[in-house]
Amino acid sequence: MKKLMNITDLTVEEIDELLAVAQDIIANPEKYQDACRHKLLATLFFEPSTRTRLSFESAMHRLGGSVVGFSDSNSSSSSKGESLADTIEVVGGYVDIIAMRHPKEGAPVVAARHADIPVINAGDGSHNHPTQTLADLLTILRTKKRLNNLTIGMCGDLKFGRTVHSLVAAMARYTGIKFVFIAPDELKFPRYIIEGELESRGIEYKEVSTMEEVMPELDVLYMTRVQQERFFNEADYLRLRDTYILTPDKLVPAKEDLTIMHPLPRINEISVAVDDDPRACYFAQTKNGMYARMALILKMLEVNV
Ligand code: NCD
Repeated sequence: MKKLMNITDLTVEEIDELLAVAQDIIANPEKYQDACRHKLLATLFFEPSTRTRLSFESAMHRLGGSVVGFSDSNSSSSSKGESLADTIEVVGGYVDIIAMRHPKEGAPVVAARHADIPVINAGDGSHNHPTQTLADLLTILRTKKRLNNLTIGMCGDLKFGRTVHSLVAAMARYTGIKFVFIAPDELKFPRYIIEGELESRGIEYKEVSTMEEVMPELDVLYMTRVQQERFFNEADYLRLRDTYILTPDKLVPAKEDLTIMHPLPRINEISVAVDDDPRACYFAQTKNGMYARMALILKMLEVNV
């Protein structure tokens, strides 16, 4: 597989296969520890990251491979004005696979065009974040034991949050999924995704403005951070950032087996008091991200274990 730009580049069968491999890695890590020996991953992060970059790097190391890269574009030649195309052309000559994050939507597509090796989109602007979706799907599968017949609530910044954009596109391909979007008017889910992924397929969804009114019906609650870096003015950010704060009292009417997720970093959206709730899965979700990325690297490098 040459590139993963969008989660829809993978068929449902391919996603299921990746999740099965990720679960096998969790059960039998030693089987995979040398699978990518002598292979090199480059992590090119033109935008800040903790989890995505470190989980990609940990994933490659745990497969026996090595990693090069940068985590701050100011330390790369892009700060001197080098084009993305040239950077990729060069790095593509050094390594076997590239994972890149960029503030501009579509930048990874440009990169993939200039590379003869596989390129993975590790987040582009407010567009897509397909490897976070693999982490999310693995988390849902491990907690719910299924990826169909679920009511999934997504709460917060649904406009700029790339994680929810990719997650909706993925879950819309499973059966019996209902979506509940919880957002203020200014941060509602983009119409192009609602029309393109949900309405075109006749998938049920509703848009509400409080989490209280839908809490009892949710199987999954996916909280998101208000994406400060995508706002045009600080006043709007300050007004909207604390619209939703999940606290233990709001969880009283929720299902006993609710799966509470967040791609992290969290700012105020989930009170730390929720961390002790057995339904809180966001830290497990980060670990699942590493296993999902291990499975993805194996697939993209066409390594069979
Ligand atoms: C997310 C991202 O970068 O889009 N973080 C992540 O990859 N785990 C979510 C966010 O930054 O809010």
